Amino acid sequence: MERDILLLGDPRLYEVSEEVTREELEELRPVFTDLFDCISRIQRDYGFGRAIAAPQIGVQKRLICMLTDKPYVFINPTLEFVGDEMMEVMDDCMSFPNLLVRVQRYRHCLLRYKDENWEDREMRMDDDMSELIQHEYDHLDGILSTMRAVDEKAFAVRENKPRILPEIVNRRSIRSYSDEEVTDEQVDCLIEAARLAPSGSNKQPWDFIVVRSYQMREKISSIDHNQKWMLTAPVFIVCIGNEKYRGDGDMERVIRDSAIATEHILLQAEHMGLGACWTGWFDQNEMRSALGLDERCYVIGVVTIGYPDGQPVETGRRSLEYREL
Ligand SMILES: Cc1cc2nc3c(=O)[nH]c(=O)nc-3n(C[C@H](O)[C@H](O)[C@H](O)COP(=O)(O)O)c2cc1C
Repeated sequence: MERDILLLGDPRLYEVSEEVTREELEELRPVFTDLFDCISRIQRDYGFGRAIAAPQIGVQKRLICMLTDKPYVFINPTLEFVGDEMMEVMDDCMSFPNLLVRVQRYRHCLLRYKDENWEDREMRMDDDMSELIQHEYDHLDGILSTMRAVDEKAFAVRENKPRILPEIVNRRSIRSYSDEEVTDEQVDCLIEAARLAPSGSNKQPWDFIVVRSYQMREKISSIDHNQKWMLTAPVFIVCIGNEKYRGDGDMERVIRDSAIATEHILLQAEHMGLGACWTGWFDQNEMRSALGLDERCYVIGVVTIGYPDGQPVETGRRSLEYREL
């Protein structure tokens, strides 16, 4: 259910929330989903937001949801500050997304909570994570960051600049994958993203082959310059431009359009938390024949798909100037 986030000035934001009881856990599960949906919506619309407290959607319960490397549910949290080191930060809040407030926070803290299975847990939080959890914890006590402003000049309005899609900013070529399985449903979703790509005259001149078999992945990667790392990926998607969908012999346009569809796969994978790498270090004829494709086909790339294992290599981009006419 799409929930409105209460905005600054709403009296419910200033109330102290109640503890969650064991009996309430099941009926609160849909609220977890609503809270995660709110985080995703704010991320999409404003480009920030990693956590939200239940009172921000009018549920006066001591419950916080956080979406970082994975979703976390913190029920009945308690906070212990570790040391007395403080830091000053510009704090943002989903209940006033265009306002920043300078506040002081503890640099280190320890969060104790029950998780979504009512298990006792604790998590050490430092720096920005410490700031984040102190902000959310305050919501449970009806305290907003505006009430913690360091002085009367502590407020700033967030500039409403155009933002680049996080998937474009964060995507990297992934060349090492974990054992975690990629489901058929996930693969279908990647192919669907490719299907929605634009193409000249809407010819959609592409085909895809999903490769899971180890033997076939071995064969493909050996043709693809014997790039051994490829085999750590559980799935390959072979992206093919196929001239039969145009029928005019215009291979350049076939390749152009199919490359767009291939990039859709990379961005959708990033969106789903998957890693991907476009590979294309192969002889076209050799790859065609290994896949049983005729001469009207052009293999645009073999995209490896899986869950990333470790951090990808950082890559730079040259600065870019453009001509205006
Ligand atoms: C058409 C194409 C072919 C590529 N072929 C390979 C390849 O065979 N092996 C590989 O490791 N990376 C390959 N890459 C990935 C590039 O090396 C990578 O995109 C580039 O270094 C920038 O890094 P990033 O994707 O992490 O931003 C290919 C990328 C493209 C677009």
